[in-house]
Amino acid sequence: MAQSITSHKSGPIRGQAVVPGDKSISHRSLIFSAMATGRSEINGLLESEDVLATADALKKLGADIYRDGDCWHVTGCGLGGFQQPSSDLDLGNSGTGVRLLMGAVSGSGIHPRFVGDESLSRRPMARVLDPLRSMGVRPETDENDTLPLTLNCPDRLLPIEYTLKVASAQVKSAILLAGLQAPGVTTIIEPVLTRDHTERLLEYFGADVEITPANPGRAIAIRGETDLAGRSVTVAGDPSSTAFLVAAALICPGSELNIRNILINDTRTGFFDTIREMGAPIKLENQRVQCGEPVADLHVSHGILSGVEVPENRAPSMIDEYPILAVLSAFANGTTHMKGLKELRVKESDRLSGTAEGLIECGVPAEIKGDDLIVSGGAVPGGAQIDANLDHRMAMSFLTLGLGSEKPVEVGHTETIGSSFPNYYALMRDLGADLRTP
Ligand code: S3P
Repeated sequence: MAQSITSHKSGPIRGQAVVPGDKSISHRSLIFSAMATGRSEINGLLESEDVLATADALKKLGADIYRDGDCWHVTGCGLGGFQQPSSDLDLGNSGTGVRLLMGAVSGSGIHPRFVGDESLSRRPMARVLDPLRSMGVRPETDENDTLPLTLNCPDRLLPIEYTLKVASAQVKSAILLAGLQAPGVTTIIEPVLTRDHTERLLEYFGADVEITPANPGRAIAIRGETDLAGRSVTVAGDPSSTAFLVAAALICPGSELNIRNILINDTRTGFFDTIREMGAPIKLENQRVQCGEPVADLHVSHGILSGVEVPENRAPSMIDEYPILAVLSAFANGTTHMKGLKELRVKESDRLSGTAEGLIECGVPAEIKGDDLIVSGGAVPGGAQIDANLDHRMAMSFLTLGLGSEKPVEVGHTETIGSSFPNYYALMRDLGADLRTP
């Protein structure tokens, strides 16, 4: 298995850590800066393969983007100002990059071609293409609406009112970015709340966004043809990456870990809420607001956990954390029942099957019932070889399992860890994790 990492039972995970910038906000800060008039500065940007793919695509669309020390500088093209790229826009492994960019380019009158890696080429794009079609975009694609595809964008979009069919912040964001370029008001009804970074950051860049209650959920209205103005953005640490450090500390006896400057937006904190219910000793300190987003420092130590039931309506606030929660559940006393995980099937890999199968290979009883995942905690034998299947979060989840299991766990195809957490291996080893490469 190419680029494998083996994780061995580890001693305490200890120290002070800073995790890389939030992936969702990093993509958005680059895209909004590139759509704005004037210059923006971004500090704390996640320099992962996914985010760098978005930066490259934006450069091909005409934005001026460069890094100087720790700061990224962007000179935007202005609303509707993207130019026809001279080659394909390759978003690699990144669903967020490709889906948000499809909305961002939709009002530019251009016809870019989007491509991605094997995993991204399998993922559903109809969820974004359908609302964009009703705004006047004409995609050229196969009958499955998957990549590669060409987006024929009109000179003038139509505003729409649209109710989200899947609880997806990527879909919501793509429509909001298209709506920003259409005349009049575009309204999205979101029956189930999903991460709201687009709404917050668009307002920070000067967009006219109005949020009102709807039944169920909320309505988000954006007034189109409102220029964005370049801004200075600081990106807080990614709570999804933080989850791997927190889980390692919880599993390994004697651990004591401080993680500074974590995003704690409550559309993202379902994992922390759940592990608190399981008995995890975590504390949030020094809470503050940074560029419209709540941020805090986090303290966690080793803990004895108990199984819980995780309700379906919590899924959007922890959608990327189920594989690592399932791993933690293996170490908990009793059963953890995670409900309503349908969306996990269309992530970078089918995370619902992959998590259950991986746990079973590691000797942990796990079962899928409908769209639910049920894990029985207790002894964790480990001793398996797991293929990460081009999925960064699956790789890091099973490496975490190996830090506490009786026998080591070898994870193959770990190269995509760089799509969200480039310094994962070095940071975890520094904190005391016994991770080894061949
Ligand atoms: C993201 C939204 C989620 C999440 C992804 C990042 C975003 O995807 O899984 O990692 O930045 O908007 P969906 O919108 O498909 O749920």
